Amino acid sequence: MKKVRKAVIPAAGFGTRFLPATKAQPKEMLPIVDTPTIQYIVQEAIDSGIEDILIITGRNKRAIEDHFDTSVELEQLLQQQGKKQHLDMVRNLANIKVHYIRQKSARGLGDAIYCAKSFIGDEPFAVLLGDDVVYNTHTPCLKQLIDCHYAHDGVTILGTQFVAPEKVSSYGIVSGREIEPNVYEVAGLVEKPPLEYAPSNLAVLGRYILTPDIFDELEKTPQGAGNEIQLTDAIARLSSRILAYSYEGVRYDIGDRLGYLKATVEYGLRNPQLAEAFKNYLQELDIDAVMNES
Ligand code: G1P
Repeated sequence: MKKVRKAVIPAAGFGTRFLPATKAQPKEMLPIVDTPTIQYIVQEAIDSGIEDILIITGRNKRAIEDHFDTSVELEQLLQQQGKKQHLDMVRNLANIKVHYIRQKSARGLGDAIYCAKSFIGDEPFAVLLGDDVVYNTHTPCLKQLIDCHYAHDGVTILGTQFVAPEKVSSYGIVSGREIEPNVYEVAGLVEKPPLEYAPSNLAVLGRYILTPDIFDELEKTPQGAGNEIQLTDAIARLSSRILAYSYEGVRYDIGDRLGYLKATVEYGLRNPQLAEAFKNYLQELDIDAVMNES
């Protein structure tokens, strides 16, 4: 069985839900506490054993490339100031093997993944969506999916979790039956169904292990929901076996402002340098008084 060595991170979207913050900077660079969101995603890939990462970018995304590049002036300054910890941090970022391809027009997630065809070649690969940040203390989310892929003959794996019924119309939804704890044999897959047509509330949440036959399907997939070429539709067309894995971890929808705020608060509370002071601040905060000021 081939190893999962490569990962694709689509990052070409406009981030309109975060305007004006995203007018001149990529939404993937918005920080949770002090770290750009895309860095959490890249770190999860590396912690899961991924060796090469392809980021699908678009216009206005240069800051992402700069972030994972060497910064000579900054390194010199940190060296002069004797800030070893910071120096190591920026050097480590530049050592990650990240590659870039531009998606020329915003034709949907399926089209973005198709841009990775020649980079991927003939091997299984991971996809991580930047809007889904997953916190884990034990096994990184992507590693859980890769382990499931190896345990089941190298088939396609969809990273899923159950969501509240009112949320099903925001996600790709799976129909299937549980074949072992947390593993579902996928019988159908539909992109953003209205609640009354949703086959379940098991949602695809930002992580996939795909096999290279997906590229043949992506080539043939017509525009779907939102007039975009949907990855979900191409996966649903696969003749090869598909499993859904309900992963463990606290998942944040940071494509949504409320989800982003929740992530900021919870990551702040987990940060060793901030935790105590931030906890005290939150406990003493007179929420109603602040709300009445608005
Ligand atoms: C995408 C996918 C969808 C998935 C969701 C969350 O939608 O098309 O199937 O459930 O991400 O991972 P988007 O949120 O980009 O509209």
